[in-house]
Amino acid sequence: MNKTLFLCVLVVSALQRSHASHAGCTLRADGPCFYTIACAAPATFRPALDCSAVDPYITLHIKQSAGHNITANHFTSEFDSFVRILSAIGNDWHYLQNNAFSNFKNVLYMDLSENHIVSLGAAFRGLEQMDSLNLSRNHIETIKPGVLQFSANKSRLYMLDLSYNQLTHLSEDSFVNVNNNLRSLYLQGNKLNTLGDHFFAKFKHLNYLNLCCSNMGSLRMTFKYLPSLKELNLSYNNLKKVDISKVKSLETIDLSHNDFEEIYFENFKGLPIVKVDLSFNKLKKLYVEDSAMASNASRPLVKLYLNNNDISYVDETFFNVFSYIAILNLSYNNIVEFKADTFRYVNVLKILIVSNNPKLRLADDISKELAQTFIIGKFPPSQIRKRMFT
Ligand SMILES: *[C@@H]1O[C@H](CO)[C@@H](O)[C@H](O)[C@H]1NC(C)=O
Ligand SMILES: *[C@@H]1O[C@H](CO)[C@@H](O)[C@H](O)[C@H]1NC(C)=O
Ligand SMILES: *[C@@H]1O[C@H](CO)[C@@H](O)[C@H](O)[C@H]1NC(C)=O
Ligand SMILES: *[C@@H]1O[C@H](CO)[C@@H](O)[C@H](O)[C@H]1NC(C)=O
Ligand SMILES: *[C@@H]1O[C@H](CO)[C@@H](O)[C@H](O)[C@H]1NC(C)=O
Ligand SMILES: *[C@@H]1O[C@H](CO)[C@@H](O)[C@H](O)[C@H]1NC(C)=O
Repeated sequence: MNKTLFLCVLVVSALQRSHASHAGCTLRADGPCFYTIACAAPATFRPALDCSAVDPYITLHIKQSAGHNITANHFTSEFDSFVRILSAIGNDWHYLQNNAFSNFKNVLYMDLSENHIVSLGAAFRGLEQMDSLNLSRNHIETIKPGVLQFSANKSRLYMLDLSYNQLTHLSEDSFVNVNNNLRSLYLQGNKLNTLGDHFFAKFKHLNYLNLCCSNMGSLRMTFKYLPSLKELNLSYNNLKKVDISKVKSLETIDLSHNDFEEIYFENFKGLPIVKVDLSFNKLKKLYVEDSAMASNASRPLVKLYLNNNDISYVDETFFNVFSYIAILNLSYNNIVEFKADTFRYVNVLKILIVSNNPKLRLADDISKELAQTFIIGKFPPSQIRKRMFT
């Protein structure tokens, strides 16, 4: 090779290298064939990956990239098919056009939270392996049909986080490609005033659903299509009614910070409930109308939070449903007394919290009924005496 030409090539490649460092990319080896790359513009970076036997496994962090309008194949790089985790948090991206990320065809997990995304096209086409997508804390107003289409085959996606966006309504059509496999769906912090029953018709495997903090005044749904749902979070809405009787796998439900004045506790019958949070509502009485319907309802030990309501009366029928109970929090209510026999259907009650019921007096026969219970907040007279003399 001609000497001058050789020098030229050297100079050019040196220039390219310095260009790469201008783009601010860093490469870190985390272990054999595991790398982390961080920069604003990966397309300009040509890393020397010292890895021949297997494909490198790359975690790519895109930072401080102000693309505004990210168009098709924007992020073409030398290593994009080796990117398994793409974490792009806090960038200034407003529009993600169709195929924006289609180069990362082997990506498994994408975190695109906090990127000021306003409008979302079908940016993820061809990402057949993708199993988790985080789009939390953007400004997305709508999910158009096709946006959540990752591959022609059935989607592998099991986690989708759309929380804290500006979604006002969701259409079934937008989720047809992902509902078959989805396990966790985060929708909290949007403006979904209401959701219809049919929206969830195909989410057969969904076991976690968060609809917290979404201004919901009514739910026109019975959750009847969610056979695998174990955890449901409906806290911080304006709900007065909810029907969960058909959510046959339900274990945990958060209904705190709503407007419930009454709950039809019979609904909990037969559900494998372990935790119910109804704190910060407007409940006045705890009772079950149809005790035959409700008897033997709860099996597992239950944690039940009823603190910060306006409860003045607890009826014995209530414990037909919750007879096996680990923790019952009744603090910050208006209970004056428990009638004799209130707890007669209680098989297990480990901890009862009754603090901050200013007028409450606990009778001695209640402490006999609850001999095995640790009571926090008030002592019946006999226990107070015992405590004074021991
Ligand atoms: C973004 O870029 C695409 C392709 O160049 C163009 O068609 C579209 O109008 C742009 N959008 C905005 C909001 O600038
Ligand atoms: C999604 O990203 C947000 C913001 O970065 C984070 O708080 C949240 O935990 C992530 N969601 C999941 C399910 O990991
Ligand atoms: C998708 O389907 C095609 C054709 O049936 C198949 O060749 C390919 O391996 C599938 N891809 C995945 C990720 O399952
Ligand atoms: C319900 O969701 C809100 C917001 O994400 C969270 O603060 C709360 O802890 C969740 N409740 C449960 C029981 O996880
Ligand atoms: C409740 O369970 C007990 C013990 O398993 C049983 O003897 C009783 O008949 C049941 N009651 C009803 C109404 O099913
Ligand atoms: C019961 O509720 C009160 C009032 O909100 C709270 O301070 C306390 O931590 C709760 N206790 C338990 C064990 O949940």
